[in-house]
This record gives sequence, C-alpha cells and structure tokens, in this order.
Amino acid sequence: MTTATDSQALLLRLLDPATRAHPYPIYHEIRAHGPLQLPEMNLVVFSSAEHCDEVLRHPASASDRAKSTAAQRRYAELAEQFPQEEAEPPSFLFLDPPDHTRLRRLVSKAFAPKVVRALEPEIDSLVDALLDAAGEPLDVVADLAYPLPVAVICRLLGVPVEDEPEFGRASAILAKALDPVFTFTGQAPESFDEMMAAGLWLREYLRDLIRKRRADPGDDLMSALISVEESGDQLTEAEIVSTCNLLLIAGHETTVNLIANAALAMLRHPQQWGALAADPSRASAVVEETLRYDPPVQLVSRIAAEDMTVGGVAVPRGDVMALLIAAANHDPAAVAQPDRFDPDREAIRHLGFGRGPHFCLGAPLARLEGTVALAKLTARFPHARLAAEPTYKPNLTLRGLASLSVATE
Ligand code: HEM
Repeated sequence: MTTATDSQALLLRLLDPATRAHPYPIYHEIRAHGPLQLPEMNLVVFSSAEHCDEVLRHPASASDRAKSTAAQRRYAELAEQFPQEEAEPPSFLFLDPPDHTRLRRLVSKAFAPKVVRALEPEIDSLVDALLDAAGEPLDVVADLAYPLPVAVICRLLGVPVEDEPEFGRASAILAKALDPVFTFTGQAPESFDEMMAAGLWLREYLRDLIRKRRADPGDDLMSALISVEESGDQLTEAEIVSTCNLLLIAGHETTVNLIANAALAMLRHPQQWGALAADPSRASAVVEETLRYDPPVQLVSRIAAEDMTVGGVAVPRGDVMALLIAAANHDPAAVAQPDRFDPDREAIRHLGFGRGPHFCLGAPLARLEGTVALAKLTARFPHARLAAEPTYKPNLTLRGLASLSVATE
C-alpha cells in the first residue's frame, strides 16, 4: 500500500528539473505502485495505459478547471488577492460541452488533414531554407525544430512572425505554467507573478492584433474567426483571444519537442538516422515511435465531474486525475520492450496526442511538420552525430530539449 507521503515524494522527484533528462525510470516506479491516491490534495495519479485510456474516454471526465475542488479553493484565495481581476474565458482545451464542442468546431476545419496537406510545399521550402542557413555545429532546436512550427502557426493565425522575440518569450513562460506544480504540491509555482504577467501581456497583444485584423482582414484564421464573431452570436472577442492564445502556444511549444526528441533518439540509435536518410518514407514511423517513446506532452489531467471508479479506485467528484501519458506509453502491459526506440515495431500505439473529445487538433499539422523536417534533416546530414550532451528546458508537462548540438561533417 503506497501512502500519500510516498506518493508525493515520487511526484516531487518527477517535478525536480534535475530528473528532466531521464524521467522514465521514475515513471516506471510510479506505474509499479498503481494509481497514486492523495485524498488530502483531491488528487489521483494514473500511469498505466489501461487507466489513462479509460479516464480519457470516460463520459464523467471533465476538462473545466472550475470543477476541481482544489482549484475552487485556489480561486477563492486568488479572488481575495486580486479582487478586481476579471476572469477571462479559458481556451477550449479547458472547457467541456457545449462550449468545447462549439469552439473546437469553429477552428477544426483549418486543421483538417486535407487543408494541412496543402501546406506541404510551403513546409518543404521552409525546412530547406532553415537547413541552408544552419551553421556548424547545427543546433537542431534553434536552427530547425523551433523556427519551423513557429513560422507555420504564425502564418496560419495571421500573427506577424517579426513579433516572435516578444510573444515567444511569453509563450515559453506560459508553457511552463502548464506544469502541475499546484496540483502536485498544493503551492503556487515560484514564478507565479511572471506567469500572470505573461498571460496578461499575450492577451493584450492578441487583442491589439484583432483590432488590426478587424480593420484590415487577411487570409488567416484570426480574420476568419472575427468574421464569424461579426456574423452572429457564435463566439465572443474574448473567446477569439483564448482560442488564438491556445493555438499560438500549441504551435510554439509542442512540435519543437517532437522534432528534437526524434532527432535525439535517432542520434542515439545511429542506424535509425542512416536508415531515414536513405529512405524518407520511414519518417512517419519515426514520428509515431517518438510520440510513444519520448512524447512532447508528458501528462494531461481531467476532473471527475461525478464520483467515478477507475481501475478499482474510487475518485470522488471534484478530484483531479493526473494522467501520466509518458508512463502509459512505456507500460509493458501494453507495449513489448517499451524502453526500446524501434520505429519498425509492428503497431505503434500511444497516447501522445491524447484520446477522446480533446484529441489533439493539430495532430495532422504536427505529423506533417515532423516528417518533412526529419526526412530532410537526415538526408542533408547523413553522418551527423551528437556534438555535446543535450540540455533540457525545465518544463515537465511540455518536456523538451533546450539545445541539441550536432556535428554534421
Ligand atoms: C507533436 C506536437 C503535438 C503534440 C504532442 C500535441 C499533443 C496534444 C495533446 C496530448 C492534447 C490533448 C490534451 C488533453 O487531452 O487535455 C492536445 C490538444 C490540442 N492540441 Fe496538440 N499537440 C501537438 C501539436 C499541436 C499543434 C501544432 C497544434 C495547433 C497549432 C495543436 C493544437 C491542439 C489543440 C487546439 C488542442 C485542444 C483540443 C481540444 O481541447 O479539443 N497541437 N495536443
């Protein structure tokens, strides 16, 4: 029987940036304990493939933080601290039906596989230009994995890429805000004030841009959402801000990790690098195996909208259910030899894009960017090797490399 104290010690190890480079042994340890129950924190942590899958599909699993008992306590404290702050609507990642369904539908067309496929020639040229400009040693993160998805999402949303130094900084701070510091410790993160300031800055930036696009619409998603807003009562300006905020951060902080994590896995398995360099059709298997083996989003969470039982564990209404996707993807009950990076495995099953009603909307785009970038990177530099030990960003939820230095000659 794992006590709440043991459980919390395991979760603190996971949060510790010192374990960022090698979290998988901790995930194995956590999964071996079964679901971790921390009733005083209104928290249950699931880490097996079966349990995570069940929670993601369960009709009583909610995403709206306002339904969480622990968050309600926290909001009450915050309302005392910041009495005049007006609550902005959350993005649809954190909403339930009917608002989730309505807002997701409004943007889903822009990310449909057919629409995304039409972007391939542009993504091809972007990757070529980035690789042409890269120096020696090449930093896979700074030279390719970061600028590619940023350019694509800016172009789709109609956000000027020249403003990237500013909103890139805000986006990085907000990505860190997704770490479950409050959920796992009951304490606000140290950088809470900085996160609030970055959130307010990004909203103001987007509001300003919406004003400009309203006067001078373009061929972009923000202008399309403005025209929907103006044509009736389907969404509000505050919802356009939240939606663009979500897409901008998702575009900045996830695909970068897919491309860099895949490159690192192949550099550590050089026969995989060489095989992809020789045969670009292997890229999609490399992408899927990376989403399983080293997923860019390591955990998601849900709230029990009613009393639930998952894997024999009672989850009271209002409790947060943290789902360790990265642990589930390495569950030996679901995957043979889970710690082996093997794009040739027979069926690659993973929760890297989530599952159920919140399944990643950007999956076709991320897959396309990943396959093009990795096929071209390996073909251009077939004999690449690690030039230095890679470094990691401090983030747990959106875990990824800060730099990946590669010798190409
Ligand atoms: C490799 C890159 C990516 C990974 C691993 C990833 C992963 C995920 C995951 C795990 C979720 C589910 C969250 C949950 O269930 O709570 C999600 C949702 C989402 N993703 Fe991605 N994502 C990636 C790229 C993108 C991109 C490029 C975009 C768009 C620009 C995007 C947009 C979204 C949106 C809008 C949602 C919310 C869907 C909803 O709530 O209905 N993602 N993503």
